[in-house]
Amino acid sequence: MKEAVLRGDYSRAGPDYAVEQDWAAYTGAEHALYRRLYARQSALVPRYACPEFEHALAGLDAGQAIPDFSAVSRRLRPVTGWEIVPVPGLIPDEAFFTHLAARRFPVTVWLRTQAEFDYIVEPDVFHDFFGHVPLLFDPAYAEHLCEYGKGGLKALRLGALPMLARLYWYTIEFGLVRTERGLRAYGAGLLSSGGELAHAIDGPAPRRFAFDLERMMRTGYAIDRYQDAYFVIEGFAHLLRDTAPDFAPLYARLRQLPVLAADVPLPGDHIVG
Ligand code: PHE
Ligand code: CO
Repeated sequence: MKEAVLRGDYSRAGPDYAVEQDWAAYTGAEHALYRRLYARQSALVPRYACPEFEHALAGLDAGQAIPDFSAVSRRLRPVTGWEIVPVPGLIPDEAFFTHLAARRFPVTVWLRTQAEFDYIVEPDVFHDFFGHVPLLFDPAYAEHLCEYGKGGLKALRLGALPMLARLYWYTIEFGLVRTERGLRAYGAGLLSSGGELAHAIDGPAPRRFAFDLERMMRTGYAIDRYQDAYFVIEGFAHLLRDTAPDFAPLYARLRQLPVLAADVPLPGDHIVG
């Protein structure tokens, strides 16, 4: 919550920033805009999304209207123990990590305007729900995100948050995974973007790095344009395993080093096809 102005209504938020979704208050025009966003993105899924996402999205049947979070939570809980928490928008780091560590995924309640159909700066219900929620049905992904929440609380204590935030950016938001059918997206920022999926997967410009914890934690990113670099995992079980070691020694070493630009090559970089 570093932005000076956030558009959500925080006045009714509890100490954990949870609010009521108030599903009945969404207008017909909002449901219609959500349907158009969903139609555009779901058409890209067979070509660009990882199979776990495609499978979970099909099971959700959430394309007709803005989803009712409690109804989705009732289906999600028995599968991976996760549930959705409605929030007014971005929330402070500590509240965010505390939710993740308890398997509660914060989802923004409001929807963007029609003028923001192609691009929005703050996460809205479409980004948060369409991009993040389907993968919470995958056991390895679900486990990893809970561990990430605990790791976030630890990074806060160690003053290492910028490093962990870069890892989140290059995995949970913009991650690619190698599959039998080529590179696919699992990052929510990609899966909810009309244009960046093709850029990330088919585009000649960006560099695609093999998974490299240290490179991710050291690589800066832009929040207002397509990424210059993406990182490719070999699957969620690998992601879970590779992020399991204690990061404290890594933080101690990396915090001495400069942050790298995403578009400047380094010797030792491992570029994948
Ligand atoms: N292993 C990390 C630590 O010791 C925690 C973590 C797990 C971070 C998974 C990110 C993802 O801090
Ligand atoms: Co997101």
